[in-house]
Formats: sequence, structure tokens, C-alpha cells
Amino acid sequence: MIPPRLIFRKGALKILDQRLLPDRVKFISVKDAAATAKATKDMALRGAPLIGCAAAFGFALEIRRLRPSTSAGLRSLARRTASLLKAARPTAVALFYAADRMLNMALGFAAKNPGRFTAAARKELLDLIDREARLVTSEDAAACLAMGKLGADLLPKNCVVMTHCNAGALATMGIGTAVGVITAAHKLGKVKRAYACETRPYLQGARLTIWELMREGVPSELITDNMAAHIIKTCGVNAIVVGADRIAANGDTANKIGTYGLAVIARHHRIPFYVAAPAPTIDLLAYDGGAIVIEERSSEEVTFVKGLRIAPRGVKVRHPAFDVTPASLITALITEKGVISPVTRENIKKNLAK
Ligand code: MRU
Repeated sequence: MIPPRLIFRKGALKILDQRLLPDRVKFISVKDAAATAKATKDMALRGAPLIGCAAAFGFALEIRRLRPSTSAGLRSLARRTASLLKAARPTAVALFYAADRMLNMALGFAAKNPGRFTAAARKELLDLIDREARLVTSEDAAACLAMGKLGADLLPKNCVVMTHCNAGALATMGIGTAVGVITAAHKLGKVKRAYACETRPYLQGARLTIWELMREGVPSELITDNMAAHIIKTCGVNAIVVGADRIAANGDTANKIGTYGLAVIARHHRIPFYVAAPAPTIDLLAYDGGAIVIEERSSEEVTFVKGLRIAPRGVKVRHPAFDVTPASLITALITEKGVISPVTRENIKKNLAK
């Protein structure tokens, strides 16, 4: 079993500190939106859907903490809180989706209850906000299950599958997206072996994904990122499944740095390249991948490994945390609403309309 990632109870949110995994299972407790945003920025929690779920809870914590007494107060608090949460990381659209959803719920309440709130209205507000945050979370868990089933059907019997970064339970409130597909296929007896790329520099694959696969009993092996092409060529890999942080309206997909390279290798070897992501990952406002903001992270994450310097002092470093895979390299997008293939604007629109 994978430990719970977020526990929301009695005005506090406990966050599984993923920076300590796999060595230690420890939770940190946060009581407001600022601390939730900081935990997100500092990578105590990570993974697109989970960042969104935490933002929804962080929003609820803030409203509960400050208990606005007027519609004007609620409106301004809700706007401030949503902006604060959205500033935590730029690429995963789930964060923006969840923060805006909570904001809209609060604005809707303010519109229906103009002026000073009665005691009953204040209680109703807190209940509504908590319920909406829990709904964001339960929808994510349900989406993971649906994607797992749809994705497992796509994989061949006896498949050898590769994944990148961590798109597992640890990145969601359910069984995961890409890893959920692999574990669902494993439960059907379809997986001969799964390869997890270590995912330099943050090592989500080495620290998190292989840990999840081992705990789920999936026959699996860890490889470093630069082994991928060789393993694909020589070890019978017949599918690659990854998650996504943001998918543009045309299907171009931002995911953890290294994903694009895997898609190129997959095309060369004529093996399918699947992206599994819940529908809110599709950002129709992003015309194509060029509109997606790519997070640049610190040089220390590249020049240090577990506190040990591995590059010369003063070295110049680039650290884009994500890359964009063009839609033309993606065999299919798997959302909870169905499988999108070929990946085109029209097919994406049809999927979202379901
Ligand atoms: O920087 P991270 O660890 O938040 O990046 C995570 C990824 O890139 C995942 O592949 C993506 O969020 C999909 S998670 C279901």
C-alpha cells in the first residue's frame, strides 16, 4: 500500500513529505494557504493532480482560518488566496484548475449572499468549501481508476512497458495516471516487466516510481535516463506510458524533462507512446505547446545529489523541469473520458465534451 498523500481534517492538512521517500514516511502539518503553497514550491508534495488537490485543501484551510463575515470580505480573501496558491508552480495546470474552481465556488456564494453573513451562512460557506475541496480529490481518484482501466486495455499481453518521472499514486489522490495504467495491467496479468527511468535531476523515478511498482508487486527494473534507448532497443519494450502536467488544445504535452526524448525514441522504434492524464490537464487556453510555461528550477538540484556536490563550483547550469512532446509523437491520450487517438484538436474537443 502507498501511504496517504494528503489528510485533510479539523482545519489542518497533513502532507506526506515526498522529499524523504523512500527512506522515511513522515507527514508535515500545514494550517493555511501560504504553508500549502510553500510545501508545493519546496516539493514536499509534487505531481500535477496532487498539487491541485493540495491547493483545493489549502484554499479551504484559509477560508476556515479567516472566516470572512461579509460577501466583500469573502471575495477579496478568495481572490488573494487563489493567487497565492497559483504562484507556487507554473507548469501543472491542475493547480490553476483547482484554485479557480475553489475561487468560483466562493464568488458564487458571495453573489448569493450579499452583505453581512448570518451565522448560518458562515457555517454553510465552510461546509460548501470543504465539500468542494473533497470533491476535487474524489474526482481525481475516480479519474485515475478509469484511466487505469482504459490504459490497461491498450497494453498488449506480456507487455514490457517503460515510464518516466512519477505519475503514480504519489502524484495523485488515486492509483496514479501512467503508473495506474501499469498497475491495472499488472492486475490483469499483462505486464512482463516495467522499466522506470530514474528521472534526473530530482529522481522521482528512482525514489518514488520504482518504490511504488515494487510495493504493488509489478516486476520492474530501475534504469538511469541515458539507458532508455538501449533498453528499448534490446529488451523488447513495447509501450511507453507517461503522465502530463499540461496538455495544449492541440495535444502537445508538457511533462517531466526527458519525456520528449523518450517519445522520439519510441517513434524511431515504432512503439506506442501513451500519455495518461485526467481531463482537467487539458488546457484549451493553450493553443499549442509553445503557450505552456516551463518551470526553471534551481541549479543546485543539478549540481548536488543528496547534498553532495557533483559539478565544479561556479558552473553555469540549465534546469528546465519540463519539456513539451509534440502531439504528432503521441499515439494516444488517455483521459477518464476515453482514449483520444489520433491526437488532434478535434478529437480532444470531442473527448472533453463527453
Ligand atoms: O516536478 P514534479 O515531480 O511535480 O513533476 C511530476 C511530473 O512531471 C509527472 O509526470 C506529472 O505531474 C504527471 S503526475 C500524474
